[in-house]
Parts: sequence; structure tokens; C-alpha cells
Amino acid sequence: MAAWLGIGLGVSFGTAFVTGLISHFMQHPPSWMVWPSRPVNLYRFTQGLHVIGGLATIPLLLAKLWTVYPKLLQWPPVRSVGHAVERVLLFVLVGASLFQLVTGLFNIAYYYPFPFFFPTAHYWTSYILIGALVIHVANEWAKVRRTVMTRPEDGIGRRGFLLTVAAAGGAVALTTVGEAFSPLAKLAVLAPRRPGVGPQGLPVNKSAYAAGVTRADSSWRLHVLGRVDRELSLSLADLHALSSHAVRLPIACVEGWSASATWEGVRLRDVLRMAGAAEDSRVRVESMEAGGLYRTSWVVPPHWHDPLTLLALGLNGSPLDIDHGYPCRLIAPNRPGVDQTKWVHRVVVA
Ligand code: HEM
Repeated sequence: MAAWLGIGLGVSFGTAFVTGLISHFMQHPPSWMVWPSRPVNLYRFTQGLHVIGGLATIPLLLAKLWTVYPKLLQWPPVRSVGHAVERVLLFVLVGASLFQLVTGLFNIAYYYPFPFFFPTAHYWTSYILIGALVIHVANEWAKVRRTVMTRPEDGIGRRGFLLTVAAAGGAVALTTVGEAFSPLAKLAVLAPRRPGVGPQGLPVNKSAYAAGVTRADSSWRLHVLGRVDRELSLSLADLHALSSHAVRLPIACVEGWSASATWEGVRLRDVLRMAGAAEDSRVRVESMEAGGLYRTSWVVPPHWHDPLTLLALGLNGSPLDIDHGYPCRLIAPNRPGVDQTKWVHRVVVA
């Protein structure tokens, strides 16, 4: 039983590690790493898998702890130096697993009882967890092989328990997956967000009130700092006078939920080329937000060259609601929601 549950946990933690690293490096790429802008729904898929798969793993981890806890409490606790090392590693593995699942769950529930910054702690703990897991798997490999190769003696009892655990994981997935897959939105009773619910039919994570942003008046201008000798200052009417495009793109939140919408606005590449930006430049998009970690975001050439990347002025047929970034926001394919900067007022070519 412990071996089969271990295989499930190994697959699930491996998937969470890879999809978590994708999320981390999409937001903080090293200088040599450039993410493509397609497939449009890639981040939506990987982060949905991360969070929904992670939640479905909770019953699996509880079942595993249930089957092995007598071993964790064995007496005498230490029999040799090798045994002591093995036990310390086991406690690291159990602690890191519980830490990842519990802090992840609290984070998507917007509950922050811990004094540390969630992404940093969650990121570094994932290396500790995967390191301890690799050693543990190497240690237990022979037993796992034997279990998989032999027929069980008490097949029915074991199969019944494993099926119950799988059903519990499946029920968690079924009641959350609708936060990213709108046909199942009605079933998403355990999810913190549902597609279709929010201003203009789209969920919001950070409202204008929470960001300290007030409604822009007629003096609002979009400043585009292109080349040293060329700076554009565009009013809302100037932007509306430019060639307008409508695109269907999702907002894919780091917290796993996502929803598609129709955005209308001007292509970022049209505005940047008007400002004389070099084709290989990186671009910083700045919000009117006074502070906060996500006040600015970087847009690299594959993203700003993409015809789907807009400075959006409208959403689902009407001007942007202030909570969606009125008067102007960035929307681009294959990009975490925290980088789809709202309340844009400056675009700087680096
Ligand atoms: C219930 C289970 C889990 C949930 C709900 C969850 C949730 C999350 C969320 C919401 C983020 C985005 C954080 C942000 O950028 O603001 C994230 C990132 C991440 N997660 Fe998880 N997670 C879970 C399990 C795991 C596990 C088991 C691992 C490792 C094996 C893991 C590794 C990562 C990594 C590496 C990141 C990137 C952190 C960063 O941006 O620096 N997660 N997770």
C-alpha cells in the first residue's frame, strides 16, 4: 500500500515541481531564458495543473502518512548512524511535503497566517522536498519494484483503500477544476474563483481599491518612452483613433484559476514601433499603482511582437471596468496574470 501511494505521490510531486518551476521562471527568467508567447494557453494549463493537482494530492499524502506513521514512531528511534540519517531525511520529507501542501492551500484561500513571503518559501522548500524525495525513492526502490511485480495477497482490502484514496483525490479535482475549465464552473464549489463571476464577467484578484488606484480623469496620458529623441504622449482618444483589434485571451492567475475573455485595444507592437523601439528591445510596462510587487512588468520581444498582445481599452464589449485596469491594461498570451499589468500609464523601452 505504502509503495503504491508512494508512486502516486512521486508522480504528483514531480509534476508540481516542474509546473512550479515553469511558473517561477516565467516570472523571474534568468538573462538567457526567453519564454515564447505561444501556445496561448500554456501557462493557464501548467499552473492549473499545479494547483488543482496539488490539491488532489492532499488525500494521497494523508493516506500515505496513515499507512507509514507506526514506522515514523518506531522504538528505539535510532539504531545506527545510517539509520539516524535515514530518519532525519524522512522527517525532512514529511515536513516539506506537509509545508508545501498546507501553505499552497492557505495561499489560494488568501489566508496568510505565516510571517514569510509565500512564493519564496514555497520555491526553496520545493528543492528540499524533491532532494529528500529522490534519496527516499533510491532507498526504497527495491521494495517498490517488488510490490509492482508481485500479485497482492489481500487484494480486495488493499484495492478498496487505494480506490477510496483515488476517489477522494478525484472529488477534490472535480470540485476545483471548474476554476480553470469553464464547462465545469458550476461544480467548482471548493475553488476560490469561478470563470464568469466578476465585473464584466471576469474574476478580479486585486481591485483598484486594494491597489490604491482612483479613476483616471481626462488628463490621463499614456507615455511611451521609445528612443531617446522620441516620446509619445497619447490620450485615450488618441489610442481609440489607432487601429483597433479584438483578441480572445485568458487571464491565468498564479493561484491556478483562469478565464477567457474578449479584449479590445491597440497592439503593443504598433505603439512601440510608432515610438521607434528597436525590434530586440525589452519593454517595461508601468502601472499607476503607487507600490506593490507587481506595479511593473517586463515584456520581451516574442511577447510584444505577437499580434495578440494588446494595450487593452475594452473587455467583453465595453470599456474596461476600473477593477480590470481602466483606462488601459496589458494583455498578452502565455503569461501569468500578475504580469498582465493594469492601470498602465507608462511604457518604457529599455
Ligand atoms: C496543495 C498543493 C499546492 C498548491 C495549492 C500550490 C500552490 C502554488 C501557488 C499558488 C503558486 C504561485 C505562487 C506565486 O507565484 O504567487 C505556486 C508556485 C510554486 N509551487 Fe506550488 N502548490 C502546491 C504544491 C507544490 C508542491 C508539492 C511543489 C513541489 C514539489 C510546489 C512547487 C512550487 C514552485 C517551485 C513554485 C514557484 C514559486 C515561485 O514563483 O517562486 N508546489 N504553488
